[in-house]
Amino acid sequence: MACSSSVAESYSTGEEVYEARCSACHGKDFEGRVGPALDAGSQSASMPDSYWVQTITKGKGSMPAQRLTDNEVTMVIEYIRSKIQSSDPSLFNHDFAHELLSRQSSLEFLVN
Ligand code: HEC
Repeated sequence: MACSSSVAESYSTGEEVYEARCSACHGKDFEGRVGPALDAGSQSASMPDSYWVQTITKGKGSMPAQRLTDNEVTMVIEYIRSKIQSSDPSLFNHDFAHELLSRQSSLEFLVN
């Protein structure tokens, strides 16, 4: 996805992003539909932020890459993490996710 920085920001909370862009495939309560469950017992729950960032921005298998701003990606991961792992919100590292996203965009910059 080239030029992710030019995508207009359309959502102001992670919940909005999830409902508009993820819930149709992953279920309203993260229980899974076309896509796998993302709830507390799921495989992805224990995956690192880098895996989430990668999956959302690049797509995976039959999941299409989601056109979202860096901020929206960060917000939606934070939202899901806070819902499924409310016992340990520290598992989500904002700075790290932002760093990954900016590194990814600079790599795309080189490729394109
Ligand atoms: C068009 C349907 C669709 C949409 C929209 C979608 N996904 Fe997915 N997602 C999938 C499918 C299908 C897979 C399984 C891909 C595979 O492993 O082949 C998947 C996989 C994933 C995984 C990895 C799951 C695992 O068990 O490893 C994560 C995390 C994920 N999606 C998060 C999201 C988030 C967050 C959004 C919204 C920003 C989103 N997805 C939007 C269909 C979708």
